[in-house]
Amino acid sequence: MTRWRWIWLAASLALAACHPAEQQAALPASHAPAAASSVPKTASRFEPPPDASMPKDDFGKQVLLGRQIFTDTGHYAKSYVGNALNCENCHLDAGRLAHSAPMWGAYPMYPAYRSKNHHVNTFAERLQGCFRYSMNGKAPPLGDDVLVALEAYAYWMSKGEPIGVAPPGHGYAKLPRPAQAPDYARGEAVFKRDCALCHGDNGQGQRVADRTVFPPLWGAQSFNWGAGMERLDNAAGFIKANMPFGRGNTLSDQDAWDVAYFMNAHERPQDPRFDGSVMKTRKAYHDTPDSLYGTTVNGSVLGQGAE
Ligand code: HEC
Ligand code: HEC
Repeated sequence: MTRWRWIWLAASLALAACHPAEQQAALPASHAPAAASSVPKTASRFEPPPDASMPKDDFGKQVLLGRQIFTDTGHYAKSYVGNALNCENCHLDAGRLAHSAPMWGAYPMYPAYRSKNHHVNTFAERLQGCFRYSMNGKAPPLGDDVLVALEAYAYWMSKGEPIGVAPPGHGYAKLPRPAQAPDYARGEAVFKRDCALCHGDNGQGQRVADRTVFPPLWGAQSFNWGAGMERLDNAAGFIKANMPFGRGNTLSDQDAWDVAYFMNAHERPQDPRFDGSVMKTRKAYHDTPDSLYGTTVNGSVLGQGAE
C-alpha cells in the first residue's frame, strides 16, 4: 500500500469520526461478533526478501518493472487491463502477504494442472488468466514484456522456497462451510457496517486523480464473471483473512460468507467465455453452488453482464 493511500485512508477515517451519526456504524467500535475460526496471520516458514535487496542489474530492472506492473497495473500494463483494478488489490502488499494468494507462494507451484481449463498451465499462462478474468482485460501474449517482468518479480520473490511444496499461506484461506446458507439481507447489513466506508455505498470504491484508492467490488469496473473472486468460497476466504482492510480476521465466518454472497449477487462484466446463453454458460463453467452466475436473486437472473 502506497503512502498516498494511507493518507487518504487516514483522512476518510477522520472524516467518519466527525460525522458519528451516519458513519459510526462502519467503524471498528461497533464491530460485532467474535470470529468462529481464525486464519493464521503470517506464514512462519517463509518471508519474501525485502524490496531493498532487489538486484540493481538488468535482471533487477525486470523485477522492479514486475513490481510496478503489479501495483499499478492500469498504468504499466494499460493495453491489457479492462477495469479499474490492480493486481495488488487482491494480492495484497504487492503479492507478499500470506493468505492473500501471494506470489512467493505461487511461483514454485507451477506448472500445475487446473480444472478451470483442463490442462497443465505454466506460471505465465496462470498470469494470463488473471488478466483475462480478474482484470477483465486481454491476456498478454507469451513472451510479452509484461508477462516476463511479472514472472521475474514472482521468481525473485520465491528464491529459496522449495519447488512443488505448497507453502503455508499460499492461495486464499479455505473457510469451513457456514452454519446457515449465505444470505443477501444479512450480507447487506455486514456491507453497510464494515465495507461501505471504503468501498462506497454502491460498492464502486473511490478513485482519486485517476488512481484507484479503494477498488470497486462489482459493476463495469470490477472483476468479471469468469474471475476466481466470483466464487463464494474464494471471496469468503479472501474477505475473512483480509477485510475490512487493516482488520483482517475480525469478521465471523458467517459474516464473511454473507457479505461475499451480497457482493457477488451484483452484476459485473460478462464472462469472456459466454456463448450467447446464460444457462449454457452456467452449465459449462459455473455449475457449482459457489457461483451465483445464472441464478435468480431478488427476482433477476444474474449473469447479464455490466457494461
Ligand atoms: C479481483 C481479484 C484479483 C485480481 C485483481 C487479480 N487476481 Fe490473481 N488471483 C485471484 C484469485 C481469486 C486467485 C485464485 C486464488 C486461489 O487459487 O486460492 C488468483 C490467483 C493468481 C495466481 C496464482 C496463485 C496461486 O497460488 O496459484 C497468480 C500468479 C495471479 N493470480 C496473478 C495475478 C496478476 C499478475 C494480477 C494482475 C495482472 C492478478 N492476479 C489480479 C484474484 C485476483
Ligand atoms: C478501511 C478501508 C476498507 C474497508 C473498510 C474494506 N475494504 Fe476491501 N479493500 C480495501 C483496499 C484498500 C483494498 C485493496 C487492497 C490493496 O490494494 O492493497 C480492498 C480490496 C478488497 C477486495 C478485492 C478487490 C476488489 O475490488 O474486488 C474485496 C473483494 C474487498 N476489498 C471486499 C471488502 C469487504 C467485503 C469489506 C467489508 C467486510 C471490505 N472490503 C472492507 C479497503 C477496505
